[in-house]
Amino acid sequence: MKILITGGTGLVGMHLSRMLRDKGHQVNHLSRKENLQAEFPAYRWDIDEGFVDAKALQQTDHIVHLAGASIVGKRWSPSQKQRILDSRVKSIQLLARQIQASGASVQSFISASAVGYYGNTGELIVTEASPAGDSGFLVESCELWEQAVEDVVALGIRAVRMRIGIVLSVLDGALPKILLSFKANAGTWFGDGSQYYPWIHIDDVARMFVKAIEDDTLHGAYNATAPNPVSNKDFVKILAKALDKKALLVPTPAFVMRMAMGEMADTVLHGSRVIPERMTDAGFEFKFDDLEAAFRDVIRRKV
Ligand SMILES: NC(=O)c1ccc[n+]([C@@H]2O[C@H](COP(=O)([O-])OP(=O)(O)OC[C@H]3O[C@@H](n4cnc5c(N)ncnc54)[C@H](OP(=O)(O)O)[C@@H]3O)[C@@H](O)[C@H]2O)c1
Repeated sequence: MKILITGGTGLVGMHLSRMLRDKGHQVNHLSRKENLQAEFPAYRWDIDEGFVDAKALQQTDHIVHLAGASIVGKRWSPSQKQRILDSRVKSIQLLARQIQASGASVQSFISASAVGYYGNTGELIVTEASPAGDSGFLVESCELWEQAVEDVVALGIRAVRMRIGIVLSVLDGALPKILLSFKANAGTWFGDGSQYYPWIHIDDVARMFVKAIEDDTLHGAYNATAPNPVSNKDFVKILAKALDKKALLVPTPAFVMRMAMGEMADTVLHGSRVIPERMTDAGFEFKFDDLEAAFRDVIRRKV
């Protein structure tokens, strides 16, 4: 199969690209920067200019949409919020237009989304059938992100939306930042630490995308999370255990996080007890359903 991955140069994208290549698929990237000599040839697109290199879509069987400006890269000013949205939403609308105009016969469109869709839901068990959260930029942006996928569905293409949890990898994402404080033998949880963190090992999130590509019975929303989410406080305690460290574990009060990060503090102060009901029902078998084993594995293998 020929697979085009937007944002394929990122954390999930590179891991997924190598997994797909090892399974014999041909992988290309769609990137803001053309690089045809890269490990995976990268064709250029420009979302603001509405440009996609026509060669990128030729003979493409499946599209994986991972592109998106970092949620925690910069404070959420109105212009940064727009950048976060456009990179996820306008990009899908652009791809839908280009698929239609080029007549490309794409079989499936697998899009990232995020567990931020559900908002801050306390102890409640959250499945794919649960409603979107009430308020907040993360909720609104995930809803718009997922709504945009309807443009692709309207073309008769099978579409999957992956509500991804915190991806565990030592290479990028949340974990390297948390590990930094452990270097100084200190760890922290945020607020009262009771908010649930739905996590997923980088291998399992990539394996879920592979399944979504290869299994044409999958469609609609799936929680890309491990079956055992833990509270923020337990997340930190289990990490200390996996590191075999006697670290000083202390809370960082919510108001401190609000002062430091503004509205963006939602990314660490909010949580939801998400379980991957539809993926499990679809027969997906997790390599990692235990957080300590997942931590130990990414640290040992440096993935
Ligand atoms: N990692 C997580 O824990 C996590 C959790 C939930 C959801 N997700 C979502 O899953 C997707 C992939 O995550 P990731 O961790 O692999 O992300 P990542 O490492 O930040 O990579 C995202 C890629 O998107 C492209 N990109 C960045 N800014 C862009 C912009 N302004 N416009 C268009 N493209 C842009 C970049 O590719 P080029 O430079 O090649 O253009 C980048 O490599 C993202 O949409 C993310 O929000 C991730």
